[in-house]
Amino acid sequence: MAYAELKLKLKLKLYSPYLIVLVLSLSLVIIQGRLSTNFYASTCPCVFPIVKEGIKEATMNDSRVAASLLRLHFHDCFVNGCDGSILLDDGPNITSEKTAVPNNQSARGFEVVDNIKARVEKACPGVVSCADILAIIARDSVVHYGGPTWEVRLGRRDSLTANRSAANQFIPPPSLNLSGLVSNFQNQGLSFKDMVVLSGAHTVGFARCVSYRPHIYNDSNIDPTFAQSLQATCPGQTGVNDTILQPLDLQTRFCFDNNYYQNLLVKKGLLHSDQQLYNGNTTSDSLVKKYATNQCQFFKDFAKSIVKMGNIKPLTGNNGEIRLNCRKPN
Ligand code: HEM
Repeated sequence: MAYAELKLKLKLKLYSPYLIVLVLSLSLVIIQGRLSTNFYASTCPCVFPIVKEGIKEATMNDSRVAASLLRLHFHDCFVNGCDGSILLDDGPNITSEKTAVPNNQSARGFEVVDNIKARVEKACPGVVSCADILAIIARDSVVHYGGPTWEVRLGRRDSLTANRSAANQFIPPPSLNLSGLVSNFQNQGLSFKDMVVLSGAHTVGFARCVSYRPHIYNDSNIDPTFAQSLQATCPGQTGVNDTILQPLDLQTRFCFDNNYYQNLLVKKGLLHSDQQLYNGNTTSDSLVKKYATNQCQFFKDFAKSIVKMGNIKPLTGNNGEIRLNCRKPN
């Protein structure tokens, strides 16, 4: 055996325990940092039927609530990652995100999450995080309205704190122009296309007068008859009828379809930010046209992008905790 070969063999023998430790810890980092679709396969498989049933029951009393729940997942993920922080109430060391401007008097569905969480806790105590429950709820809400389905990646843990100022900073307001929307999503590692396709969630649910008032009074890229009809119940004066609701998708508010994009083509987006997606930018306009004419493509791309959104900075491994009550840390 050559001298060099012998030296290498000796070295490998000497260092092999260290190499094994290195490989093991590297794979642990990879496993810990990754979400997986079978995370609760052995510890809580019934989380799926429990969430499905919870959505079914909640929507019997309130058809809108599944839209509100879908939005909660988005507002959770955009504030320091998908960590259930939006669910925390004010507490001794917690300044709740619920009263941040984008959520105040607007975010809803928290009781439904509480109900589902209580049932999951009964079935598998201390196992399933609130952040994961929100991600499953978002998928089942879309399915409830007839939209696409996808495999939810799981294994997130819950934050110990909330961050109201980050909620104000990172959740996009409806006043943003296209470039603002794009950079807001890019801050979260999401692309231009992710932004356009995820905005398609506005195929369900409602907005308050205070959110669409600037668009119906100040903007010119709106169908005049549509603007007039909205002005009838949402007066121009700030503070008057602020909470009057209008559907984000006029025709099919409880149906997850591509009608949102068809409305944009005829300048019937409800929010300033909605109509920005079809306002003369070649890239955005062509995506809107594609989704308006091809619902199947919209469904496929939406599923892909919402999984990507659900991957934003999850807490895994020993970080965070599995909250027992989504409203407060353990
Ligand atoms: C692109 C940037 C976005 C902006 C500027 C935006 C803004 C808004 C605003 C202002 C409202 C109405 C709130 C109110 O008046 O109470 C709303 C509602 C809603 N948003 Fe968004 N949103 C965006 C993206 C998204 C995304 C990515 C999702 C989900 C994936 C989403 C889901 C919803 C849903 C479902 C509603 C209706 C909620 C309900 O009826 O309770 N939005 N959004």
